[in-house]
Amino acid sequence: FAPASLHLNDVKFFSRHLQARRHNSHKGSYGNVAVIGGARGMSGAPILAARTAINSGVGRVYALFVEDALPCDPGQPELMCRSAGDFELNTATLVIGPGLGDSSAAHALLDQAIASDSVLLADADAINLLAGDAALQTRLAQRQAAVVLTPHPLEAARLLGSSIGAVQADRLAAARTLAARLQAIVVLKGSGTVIAAPDGKAVINTTGNPALATAGTGDVLAGLCGALLAQGWPQWEAALAAVWLHGMAADVLVTEGCGPIGLTAAELIPAIRTALNRM
Ligand code: APR
Ligand code: MG
Repeated sequence: FAPASLHLNDVKFFSRHLQARRHNSHKGSYGNVAVIGGARGMSGAPILAARTAINSGVGRVYALFVEDALPCDPGQPELMCRSAGDFELNTATLVIGPGLGDSSAAHALLDQAIASDSVLLADADAINLLAGDAALQTRLAQRQAAVVLTPHPLEAARLLGSSIGAVQADRLAAARTLAARLQAIVVLKGSGTVIAAPDGKAVINTTGNPALATAGTGDVLAGLCGALLAQGWPQWEAALAAVWLHGMAADVLVTEGCGPIGLTAAELIPAIRTALNRM
């Protein structure tokens, strides 16, 4: 049985999980996020995700690099930039995949992340690596801790062993099939992003616009969803809220003349922070 799909057009779908920041709280109250990625030539991807996470309320954010770690991010010195091999994966919500590449070191990190007890968001190259490793898919499906996957249509097609055309012809079915198979929340991105759960429930997002069709906006979504997960949101509501806010930020920026032409992924970050604070 698959319940009918709904349109995600109101904050009431998820706003009950937005908690007021308590007066006597501290950074330890707001979780840790570790973004894992950044193969050589791809360091911008984990930086975008990590910047989004620190601007979305997380207490501590790490940017972990599969190859050469940046010494720091001069534009966001709050981030702790490290080599992924030097990090205890059980101490943070993990966002793995942005610019991760397909090296054996990347594969080993994905294996370790799946073996960890941490809440896990897999995006981009983590999904591509997963597509080529059926045993890893089985272990992902058996995890105790929450899993969110954020494929774009080509990444979803690789996971399904099908084609972009087949995915796009029935986006709801593709997202539901992956969610059931991998026992994860699946966010199938693109115009009208679909969020699906293993029990068959699925929602189509109504925010967002083609200003988002530019490099790095997926990394921003991954960082935002990871940030909500780290702050204790349940996986379904975290995915709904992240997709809705990410699209809403782009919609507001377009009304301000920052798009649809030439919006950059980094410009979404302060707009997401404003949308979160106004929610
Ligand atoms: N309307 C609404 N939303 C859109 C539209 C559109 N026309 N086009 C794109 N988007 C949104 C998507 O829903 C998604 O949230 O923009 C985001 C794009 O995400 P990705 O496709 O993952 O793009 P990108 O950020 O460039 O990916 C970065 O992932 O695919 C890999 O190799 C790639 O490492 C790179 C990383
Ligand atoms: Mg992407």
